[in-house]
Amino acid sequence: MTFDLASTLAKHAGRNAELHAAHINPRFATVLRTIGYDNVYTRAQGAHLWDDRGHKYLDFLGGYAVCNFGRNHPTIKKALADYLALDLPTMVQFEAPLLSGLLAEELKRRVGRGLDYVFFTNSGTEGVEAAIKFAKCATGRPALLHAPKAFHGLSSGSVSINGCESFREGFAPFLPECRMVAFDDLAALERELARGDVAAFVIEPIQGKGVNIHSPGYLAAAARLCHKYGALFVADEVQTGLGRTGSFLAIDQEGDVEPDMVILSKALSGGYVPVGAVLVRAEVWKKVFTTLDRAIVHSSTFHQGAMAMTAGLASLAAYDEARAADNAAKMGAMIKAGVDAMKPRFEMIKEVRQRGLMIGIEFGAPKSLMLRAAWTATHAMDKNLFAQAVVIPLMEDHRIICQVAGHNQDVVKLIPPLVIDESDVQWFLRAFEDVMTQLHRASSPVSLLARLGRNAMFGGKKEASAP
Ligand SMILES: Cc1ncc(COP(=O)(O)O)c(C=O)c1O
Repeated sequence: MTFDLASTLAKHAGRNAELHAAHINPRFATVLRTIGYDNVYTRAQGAHLWDDRGHKYLDFLGGYAVCNFGRNHPTIKKALADYLALDLPTMVQFEAPLLSGLLAEELKRRVGRGLDYVFFTNSGTEGVEAAIKFAKCATGRPALLHAPKAFHGLSSGSVSINGCESFREGFAPFLPECRMVAFDDLAALERELARGDVAAFVIEPIQGKGVNIHSPGYLAAAARLCHKYGALFVADEVQTGLGRTGSFLAIDQEGDVEPDMVILSKALSGGYVPVGAVLVRAEVWKKVFTTLDRAIVHSSTFHQGAMAMTAGLASLAAYDEARAADNAAKMGAMIKAGVDAMKPRFEMIKEVRQRGLMIGIEFGAPKSLMLRAAWTATHAMDKNLFAQAVVIPLMEDHRIICQVAGHNQDVVKLIPPLVIDESDVQWFLRAFEDVMTQLHRASSPVSLLARLGRNAMFGGKKEASAP
C-alpha cells in the first residue's frame, strides 16, 4: 500500500466529526458540535486558521499555548524540512546526539539560574513526572506540595498534584503525601514545609486554570522557604515559558527566584513535534544519576529524538526573530487596556488578569436587578455556562477561537500566538464588545439555551460577521 498525504486528505475531506465520533472520542465530538466548534480547518498561518469553506479564524487559543511563534513559522518549517532531507540518524540510543547537546546548551544559556543539566521529555506531563521522581530521589522525602487549581498534566503522577477535583474524580488512589497549600500564602507554605517531609513544591508561576497571578515577591520567598526546610522548588513553566508572559520565563519578572528545576514544553515544539525539557540543578541531578549503572535510571525511548530537538532549536530561533516576548508584552497590554476601557459599560466584567499574552477575563455578578436574575439563572443551569456564553458567540459570530479558563469559573482565557498584531487585537476587542452587549441584555440565558439547542441538533454552522 502506498501512502500519499495530500490525496488521502482530499479523498476523506469532511469526514472529521464522523471518524472521531466512531473511533476516537464521541463525547468530545458532541461537545464540539454543541459549542459550535465543529469547524473543519484546512490551513493555518501565524495566528490564523482557515476552514474548508475559506473562512478565516483568529486563534486566541494557540493550540493550548504550543504555537507561541504562530503556526507554520517559516524558520521552524524549513528546519524540519531540512531535517527530513538530511536522512539523519535518530534514536540510536547508545550515542550522544549532537542536536540534544546543542539544545541543552542553548536552553541553559537562556534560563541561567545555575541549572546545570537538561533532561528531555516528550510532553509537559512527562517533565512533571521527571521532576517528581528527581525530587523524591534527591531529598529522600515522600511529600509534594501544590496549589489549589494547579494543573501540571494528567498522568498518574502529575494528576496527583492537580488542584481541580474535576480532573481527579475516578482516578484515585493518587501518589501518597500530595498536599495542597493555599494560593499565594507563605505562612501556609511554611507550615507544610515545617513538617520536614516535603520533597518539592511544584508550582506554575502563573496558573493556567484561571490565570491566577501571585503577589509580587511570593515566588522568590516561596523558593527561599523551600530551601530553608530542605525541600526543592520546581517552576512548572510548561505554559508560561518561551515568551508567553513577556519574558523568556515567567519567573524572570519575579525577582530573585532560585528554582531547583524548571520544566518547559509546549512552545518548544514550534507547534510541530512534541518535546519537553527539565532543567535541573547539579546537586539534584547527581543524587539521581549516582553511578554508571544508574546513568539512564530515568529515561524514555523518544526523549531526545532528532526531529524534536530540531523543532526546539528552530523554535528558539523563531522566538528571537519574532521578538516574541516583547510583542507579547505590547499586545497583551493593549488587550487589557481595551477590555478595561469597556468595564464602565459592562458591569459583568469583573477583572482582567494579564501578563504578556496570558490573559484571564473574569466576570462577576451584576448589580442591576434584571441582569442579576439572568446571571443567577445561567449559574443555576450550570456553573461553567457563563464563560461558555462568552466563548460560544466569540466563535459563532466572530470566528475567534478561545477557551473557558477552567471548571466552575467565570473566566475566559486568551493565550494567542505571540505574533499577533494590532489588527488581531482590534478584531478581538470589537468581537468582545459585541458579545458583552448581547450578554448585558436580560434575555441572554434564553438566547444561549436556544443557541446550544440549535447546535446540538443541527451543528453550530452559521455565517459570522468576522473578516
Ligand atoms: C503548567 C502545565 N504543566 C503541565 C502541563 C501538561 O503538559 P502536557 O499536556 O504536554 O502533558 C500543562 C498542560 O497544559 C500545563 O499547562
